[in-house]
Amino acid sequence: MHEREGVPLRIESVQFVCSAATSADLPPDRTPEIAVSGRSNVGKSSLLNSLLGRNDLARVSRTPGKTQLLNFFRVNSRFHLVDLPGYGYARVPEGVIRRWRLTMQEYLRRRRQLVGVIQLVDCRHDPSRQDREMIAWLREERVRFCLVPTKMDKLSQGERRPALARLLAELDLPGDLALVPYSIRTREGRDELLAWLDLVLAPGQVPEAAPRNGPERC
Ligand code: GTP
Ligand code: MG
Repeated sequence: MHEREGVPLRIESVQFVCSAATSADLPPDRTPEIAVSGRSNVGKSSLLNSLLGRNDLARVSRTPGKTQLLNFFRVNSRFHLVDLPGYGYARVPEGVIRRWRLTMQEYLRRRRQLVGVIQLVDCRHDPSRQDREMIAWLREERVRFCLVPTKMDKLSQGERRPALARLLAELDLPGDLALVPYSIRTREGRDELLAWLDLVLAPGQVPEAAPRNGPERC
């Protein structure tokens, strides 16, 4: 992790808040938000459960495309963690992909209470076109993000370093990027990611939250 280190955030309470299909369904309050983003099956829901220390909070599946809504979880009565719908699942019709694009772009652009994104990529594969697109949007919209290569337990010791170096080179990311390799099996990365949460949620980091456009409902 290259950013200034925080202290691992302690998870004291977690509640499911709601699911949103479009921007019109987002929770109306101004609670700071951190979203978990990445392609289908990369391990978003698994990471959310692992991070929050719960087995079954977010639904995990071997079948890609399980999470098709934005699912909001309230943590420590202080912030929301948002499980975003996965992208890049080939069997989803074109119309659904278009809607995903619109919802995500609108969300990243307008959601003032979004203070950070945990961007997942599979450590074993080259980043997809949509991974690159998502990261380009994050940079364009100046959303603070942490890059999390997932499923690190599937790499041998010898494969780790070259795989991470290749990912970084492929994505052409800045040198001061927060990078946290993660495994739900070994819990590698958990404390570092909780420390990153602590950092982005620190007083002064959370903007005066007011919607830029339109009403918000849950
Ligand atoms: P969608 O909801 O379809 O977008 O998928 P998702 O990104 O939420 O993935 P999910 O958490 O459902 O996990 C997909 C599969 O990857 C499941 O079979 C998980 O058990 C597996 N998985 C997730 N994280 C890890 C990990 O760190 N190590 C290993 N070995 N498997 C993992
Ligand atoms: Mg999921």
